[in-house]
Amino acid sequence: MSRYKISNLEEYFKEYKKSIKDPKKFWDKIASENFTWYQEWDKVVDFNMAEAEIKWFVDAKVNITKNCIDRHLAKKGDKVAIVFEPNNPDEASQSITYNELHQRVSKMANVLLSQGIKKGDRVCIYLPMIPELAITTLACARIGAIHSVVFAGFSASAVAARINDSECKMVITSDGGYRGNKTIDLKGIVDEALVNCPSVENVLVVQRTQTDVKMKEGRDHWLAPLLEKASDNNTAEIMDAEDPLFILYTSGSTGKPKGMVHTTAGYMVYTAYTFQNVFNYEENDIFWCTADIGWITGHSYILYGPLLNGATTVIFEGVPSYPDFSRFWQIIEKHKVNQFYTAPTAIRALAKESLDYVQKYPLSSLKVIGSVGEPINEEAWHWYNDHVGGKRCPVVDTWWQTETGGILISPIPFITPTKPTYATLPLPGIQAVLMDEKRNEIEDNQVVGSLCIKFPWPGIARTIWGDHQRYKDTYFSTFPGKYFSGDGALRDEVGYYRITGRVDDVIIVSGHNLGTAPIEDAINEHPAVAESAIVGFPHDIKGNALYGFVILKETGEKRDKENLAKEINQHISDHIGPIAKLDKIQFVSGLPKTRSGKIMRRILRKIAEGDYSNFGDTSTLLNPEIVEEIKEGKL
Ligand code: PRX
Repeated sequence: MSRYKISNLEEYFKEYKKSIKDPKKFWDKIASENFTWYQEWDKVVDFNMAEAEIKWFVDAKVNITKNCIDRHLAKKGDKVAIVFEPNNPDEASQSITYNELHQRVSKMANVLLSQGIKKGDRVCIYLPMIPELAITTLACARIGAIHSVVFAGFSASAVAARINDSECKMVITSDGGYRGNKTIDLKGIVDEALVNCPSVENVLVVQRTQTDVKMKEGRDHWLAPLLEKASDNNTAEIMDAEDPLFILYTSGSTGKPKGMVHTTAGYMVYTAYTFQNVFNYEENDIFWCTADIGWITGHSYILYGPLLNGATTVIFEGVPSYPDFSRFWQIIEKHKVNQFYTAPTAIRALAKESLDYVQKYPLSSLKVIGSVGEPINEEAWHWYNDHVGGKRCPVVDTWWQTETGGILISPIPFITPTKPTYATLPLPGIQAVLMDEKRNEIEDNQVVGSLCIKFPWPGIARTIWGDHQRYKDTYFSTFPGKYFSGDGALRDEVGYYRITGRVDDVIIVSGHNLGTAPIEDAINEHPAVAESAIVGFPHDIKGNALYGFVILKETGEKRDKENLAKEINQHISDHIGPIAKLDKIQFVSGLPKTRSGKIMRRILRKIAEGDYSNFGDTSTLLNPEIVEEIKEGKL
């Protein structure tokens, strides 16, 4: 699987040029030389950007798990596929070989079939970071069921909204989950969610914490006895290249979460190719991505990308601060991790602690260190480079999104010279462009613009589940003919990209995408609240934190404000999850609005940041006096 590996800068430029000149030929070669197909494609790509219709490897037939598992068995059945590192360092870690993974995924696939799950059915997976999360996800893919993994930090109503949106037939969960010194009642959350989920017929429950849980007769089943009875002989389903592989929800700037749909063949080719090149994976390396499988980073670079390359991938159940701040470094040392991939928010949190935690460990196994999820600030970049990478390991600052399936802009380690805070150059196949306010493509360098991609790549999401119009409107209408990422970027004098951040109403808090609208909806549902507006403000560790401006109803005005603030945060926690809680809440009597009724968020952003120097043009405001009042209320 190293036929698609780039080996020097000259080759990168050559490959890049080739990929732009003839994308079909470029991807055709990669796809045909590196995967096992039941049937090859009639056409490499078929697309209509105006309609947001994209197909790759048209009419090909394939199963991604055959490529992740079965085809490795002859040569590396005994190689470790998954290393599981539990939350508690005193609990033994586990190694799952490719042979064992094959057996466990096959059994799990047979359990799903025996429970009536068929190709095309949606299965919601709400599990902690334990091997069963990987195994059940792969088992869905094996039988052609569409997995919808929901991060186990979401609340019952967020889980219910996701289950209902895609009408999942089954939920797979566990009795509980460990995270640091907390035990999370996952089954309880599922029970609460399922009160409002008519499509769910069965719930499979993995035992992890031995918590005493209620099992609903006829609906809930312990997984272990079913697995015990299941045969380990399972033939992978034949999938069309464009059959959906999974749905993964991401926040939008408006309304309900978007169920991004990724399909089979394009996603497979793209994650495999990018994993190999961005992490310079070599046989026998140990790769560790600290994300949760509940996010796209985990889907693409804990599961699919590594397994497609026959790699060894680490699954870590816990958090970087438990039992102390050396946990990440201790794991790198214990498993001799070669490639380490984490988020700036984790780097900043760990950089704040004593250097002793990291210096205790030589970390000499590391070869490449990566960053993802939000812009990495210069200080964090240097700390990571100096103290984790020992100035020897290239830092790959990888830019991409749930929608893109895989990494789009990133240095290729040992090849692309890195530059702090820059994601550097687009990978082969990625035609990145910057657009100006007049919707023209910016040709010059040293400019800032809206980051778009002007030709499809195999890993791009194909639609939003049940709402293709929203997909088209969100990504393909702002700059006709192009995919619009929603991010702004700066291109420097040599063509390197630096991502400057979101240009829409999505705020990235601790690496999590949060749309302002769903949080505002949750706040507004509180009986004492009339209206609210959320903005982000810079935070040392989280990158951004949330600031809420809240207008109360008359009844609320009479209440104790401190208690009310607590209740509002609890409300958000119940509706979305603790990740969306506000750091600051200011009660106000009005919000700055334009004559057309739109909240002028840029003013609120400035107030939240404490920058009162220049609010810009406020002439279109209906109520300019409110700005002064809010400002004074904050001071
Ligand atoms: O704003 C960009 C930011 O994260 C957004 C995508 O979030 P999500 O779909 O949750 O996927 C995160 C993991 C791929 C992007 O629109 N982002 C991601 N990576 C970077 C980044 N911002 C700056 N630099 C990055 N390397």
